[in-house]
Amino acid sequence: MNADELRGKYIEFFKSKGHAQIEGKSLLPDNDPTVLFTTAGMHPLVPYLLGEEHPAGRRLTDYQKCIRTGDIDAVGDASHLTFFEMLGNWSLGDYFKEGAIEMSFEFLTSPKWLGIPVEKLGVTVFEGEGEIPRDEESAAVWKKLGIPESRIAYRPRSDNWWGPAGLTGPCGPDSEMFYDFGKEPCGPGCGPGCSCGKWLEIWNDVFMQYNKNAEGVYQPLLRKCVDTGMGIERTVTILNGKTSVYETEVFVPIIKGIEKAAGCSYGSGAGKDTSMRIIADHVRSAAFILGDSRAVSPSNVGAGYVLRRLIRRAVRHGRRLGMTGPMLSPVADIAVDKMKGPYPELAENRAFITAELNREEEKFLETLQKGEHEFEKLLPNLLKNPGKIISGRLAFRLYDTYGFPIELTEELARENGMTVNRGEFDESFKKHQELSRSQSGRTFRGGLGDQGEMAVKYHTATHLLHRALRIILGDHVAQKGSNITAERMRFDFSHGAPMTSDEIKKVENIVNEQIKRDLPVKMEILNLEEAKASGATALFGEKYESQVKVYTIGDESTGVFSKEVCGGPHVERTGAMGTFKIQKEQSSSAGVRRIRAVLE
Ligand code: ALA
Repeated sequence: MNADELRGKYIEFFKSKGHAQIEGKSLLPDNDPTVLFTTAGMHPLVPYLLGEEHPAGRRLTDYQKCIRTGDIDAVGDASHLTFFEMLGNWSLGDYFKEGAIEMSFEFLTSPKWLGIPVEKLGVTVFEGEGEIPRDEESAAVWKKLGIPESRIAYRPRSDNWWGPAGLTGPCGPDSEMFYDFGKEPCGPGCGPGCSCGKWLEIWNDVFMQYNKNAEGVYQPLLRKCVDTGMGIERTVTILNGKTSVYETEVFVPIIKGIEKAAGCSYGSGAGKDTSMRIIADHVRSAAFILGDSRAVSPSNVGAGYVLRRLIRRAVRHGRRLGMTGPMLSPVADIAVDKMKGPYPELAENRAFITAELNREEEKFLETLQKGEHEFEKLLPNLLKNPGKIISGRLAFRLYDTYGFPIELTEELARENGMTVNRGEFDESFKKHQELSRSQSGRTFRGGLGDQGEMAVKYHTATHLLHRALRIILGDHVAQKGSNITAERMRFDFSHGAPMTSDEIKKVENIVNEQIKRDLPVKMEILNLEEAKASGATALFGEKYESQVKVYTIGDESTGVFSKEVCGGPHVERTGAMGTFKIQKEQSSSAGVRRIRAVLE
């Protein structure tokens, strides 16, 4: 059974049990500041698990794309992935433990569905803690269905309690289902849930009974719910008698593509296999993040940072295998072809995925070259150091100035018989992170709190954008607000309808044209009436002093492109601002649209 068949069967089974199929949602959660990505099928359903009525009813099923970045370092083993597909079914105040477990059991074991032999299964249930009792109820249902006591393990909160990735929300004890690969137990305590390699978790039934509030208090939910999640890649693995997800049809074509590009074959050495697995997983994840809605590009913050990390890690492993560029986009192409059936957005956004991967790969290779060059220059001196230790401060400087990853400094050090003081590096890194966190906290609060180089460029970009929008959409467009950080800009403006992709493209082109023309930016101080009379745009409803600064982009020789009353500061010329890109255009409030854009 392949992944498409499994997906289809799951939905069909739960439909036959009275569930309505709902659409899986975006990988980028809307209005949820607690997480960067959708981590489980329940994530978009949180309001309904907390009591809201779902328009489709009380029994739901779907398939959902998920990203779990907490597992990034485990990728390379047989089963951990940063991107995976989750099949799910939910009861919103309908069936509870017995109903959920019975349906799970039937789907797993019935010859009509997956037909897994009962003796290959094992389960875990919650052992209880404090006021929350040991889950004898679930254990009794499993026993009734034919799972022997010896294959039911009671496990603590760390294993058998599920809550959302954020700190608050619906949660409860769970019961997990494992496949037994048939290996010898690793010791007397080995049972379902043991991580020795004998058992593989394939499905989880969560019994949502509580809402954990911001004070950390568990409040009983008004109606008890069920949330389940089955991993497609893992289940396909066991259904086909494989031992790793990379040997299934989900990954084989991707691995083949890597083999071809690297000129080596899978199975020719553990180190190489691990690199191939990491590339396969990371490129697939990156393709899904980029292809979700074109809202995220590689950057140094948030989801963009995760994406950057995935891409750069894949490039490093690609280099290790001897791949040359563009090394990731051809692999991504295979992943897109493989997954575009259930996720058509991948094919729609293919050009964006390719362009972003290629760009980030090139950028990173440049970084690597600069860093390696710098390292070589330092090498003679470093080798004189009797302890052959590279200080953490130097490693941090390579990271901070050249974007040179610590793992690479360590690798180069090793090749030259040296080591890096990692503790010292980690300390510098932590300090740096705290500093940038507090800085971005400051900039986020208001307008142009940050007057760093990037923020100033973004500020000028808001003027170019404002004018471009008026040219393309019409003079009714007026700025309603903006917010700038060193990483991106947000711009709100009055306009009654979503912009078409053609309009977005035109606006981008106009802004980029003005950047290319390297227009001068001039400031003059005028009184407000003079300023308005001169044709300068002023923000309606904004309170101005009687004397105002007016910024003009372009002059007599180039033609004036934009003129606005504004406090500044701005760049002196538009030339070095980079490439302007609109990442997202969406509704902000009635009659107001919001654009999120970056300069790259
Ligand atoms: N939300 C549960 C999980 O992800 C089903 O394991």
